[in-house]
Amino acid sequence: MPVKTIIEPFRIKSVEPIRWTTRRQREQRLEAAYYNLFLLPADDVLIDLLTDSGTGAMSTHQWAAIMEGDESYAGSRSFDRFKNSVQDIFGYKHVIPTHQGRAAERILFGVACKKGDVVPNNTHFDTTRANVEFVGAEAVDLVIAEGHQPALLHPFKGNMDVPALEALIQRVGRERIPLVMLTVTNNSGGGQPVSMENVRQVSAVCKRHRIPLYFDACRFAENAWFIRLREKGYESKTPKQIAQEMFRLGDGCTMSAKKDGMANIGGFLCTNDDLLAQQEKDLLILTEGYPTYGGLAGRDLEAIAVGVQEALEEDYLRYRIASTAYLGNHIASQGVPIVQPPGGHAIYLDARAFLPHIPADQFPGVALAAELYLEGGIRSVEIGTLMFAAAAQMDLVRLAIPRRVYTQSHIDYVVEVILEVWKHRETIPGMRLTYEAPFLRHFTAHLEPVKVGVVTRS
Ligand code: F0G
Repeated sequence: MPVKTIIEPFRIKSVEPIRWTTRRQREQRLEAAYYNLFLLPADDVLIDLLTDSGTGAMSTHQWAAIMEGDESYAGSRSFDRFKNSVQDIFGYKHVIPTHQGRAAERILFGVACKKGDVVPNNTHFDTTRANVEFVGAEAVDLVIAEGHQPALLHPFKGNMDVPALEALIQRVGRERIPLVMLTVTNNSGGGQPVSMENVRQVSAVCKRHRIPLYFDACRFAENAWFIRLREKGYESKTPKQIAQEMFRLGDGCTMSAKKDGMANIGGFLCTNDDLLAQQEKDLLILTEGYPTYGGLAGRDLEAIAVGVQEALEEDYLRYRIASTAYLGNHIASQGVPIVQPPGGHAIYLDARAFLPHIPADQFPGVALAAELYLEGGIRSVEIGTLMFAAAAQMDLVRLAIPRRVYTQSHIDYVVEVILEVWKHRETIPGMRLTYEAPFLRHFTAHLEPVKVGVVTRS
């Protein structure tokens, strides 16, 4: 029988209750949190789509491996298992554990970059950009033009603009570019994938100019699945073969194991460069820990060793990508504007198109995220004017899907809530800032609705 329904490829062994609140309670909680969802206690959230980072459910195999954790300070058996598993997929000579992705970034850029350097990326994630800028280098985003148009359909909207990369190298000179980076998938650009063809072209440019190519590999498995689905010649390759082929085209990577490492904490930094690895390990000892644990417990290394392999399982990826698309397609078919096509880990609502009556300086993304919470207890995150101020090119609301956590009925509920909000979108008020910190203001900002009093609905 040809089966059409894609099911969750797991059954549930341990459950974590989630808590209903009333509309009245949510109004109070939201006001007390100054309309900033980062300031809400997580217990007051019913469905938490704030991030897919570190929020996934681990498998029975991962929990079993955790019991095998070797907590020796040096030469831990767990490190060997971690290193072997990572090398099996990534193939790089040196594997350096870190406590999460941004620690790998800080060490890489701290060692490889200096003031006046330039780092091209398809799109830097905010911690990546901050770590490049922290050493006085310039972070340049070079995603293809299609990547800036939310409604436009394109199979690989995360691709790097190769002629723009060439032009940048000509303009600033290869001596000022210590490395080129590709973020797979492109989180800040809507979770959009990069094609193997694009990786090959970028790799060729890098080789010609003798510039190392690094991957920001957080969502490498999701990217591999998109290549298999959308790129000619990869239909019958396994996700692992695709990932291995991609990593062979580069010289190293940074990784947050909180995403496609399927772990709740952890990350790593890889390189083929012996000298760089030595300098990185020296810095690691200073700030993170000895190179066989890098700020993690042995049990965390075990969870990652199992997790990176599980992230490449076909049944898992088929379900993962289908369930994200399921959410996106169901709301888009009712007219809700989203970044198209649906990405790997998240659906991004286009808040400017959703709430055209709210000008960008009244934070349409914050207003929409607040309304999704009021309507149904859903937590999302604004990626727009509050986060990037005047530099924001779009106002998006990201609904990030934690891995293996929510079932289809949870997602059906999310669809229902979004469609309800869509129906009364004209009544949603804009927001005004009442407090902002001098940097990374979105985490702690206080806001209030521009119209006094939010309409109470039962
Ligand atoms: N690179 C990308 C593409 C990311 O999405 C993240 C984290 C990092 C690097 C940093 O990794 O959090 O382990 O230090 N993204 C999370 C998110 C926080 O919600 O998208 P980290």
